[in-house]
Amino acid sequence: MEIIYRKAKISDVEEIHQLVSYYAAKNLMLARSRSSLYEGIREFTVAEYNGRVIGAGSLHIIWSDLAEIRALAVRPAHIQKGIGRNLVNLFLKEARQLEIKRVFALTYQQEFFIRCGFKAIAKEELPHKVWKECVNCPLFPNCEENAVIINI
Ligand SMILES: CC(C)(COP(=O)(O)OP(=O)(O)OC[C@H]1O[C@@H](n2cnc3c(N)ncnc32)[C@H](O)[C@@H]1OP(=O)(O)O)[C@@H](O)C(=O)NCCC(=O)NCCS
Repeated sequence: MEIIYRKAKISDVEEIHQLVSYYAAKNLMLARSRSSLYEGIREFTVAEYNGRVIGAGSLHIIWSDLAEIRALAVRPAHIQKGIGRNLVNLFLKEARQLEIKRVFALTYQQEFFIRCGFKAIAKEELPHKVWKECVNCPLFPNCEENAVIINI
């Protein structure tokens, strides 16, 4: 059976929610409500295996030249097999098609993104607009996430 990468559908929301909630409970990523997943479902791409979502993530546009990879997660049983990188590459392709020049992520998995071609930057270098989401986070302003960015 092969892994299928495709844009998410409404029927994927429950599995994406489960996946994100699993890692959010370990404080590895931000929790997402079902409501926000339904509203943002068009931003999501999933990796499907044997009829199940085993990986997911989204590309969120911030500004004319900037987008963010959000909610990227791969099921524990499937990590370290290149699925995260494949999803990142699909987001970079999507950004290129949209003529967006830079893609960033806020993450505890800096090394993974560096392996995907990103470089580390100071969070303060990101535009203020990025903080709109952060102010609603319980960890703000003491979050330990690192910023990584790639020019495409
Ligand atoms: C981070 C995550 C998405 C990586 O997905 P993955 O499918 O395991 O990653 P890949 O197999 O595509 O790895 C690509 C490369 O990064 C490396 N890598 C993967 N996870 C890594 C980690 N946590 N630390 C260091 N390197 C890592 C791999 O060894 C591989 O290296 P290579 O270039 O030598 O082949 C996955 O571990 C995950 O879901 N983590 C929990 C949720 C999370 O923290 N998401 C990030 C929020 S932005």
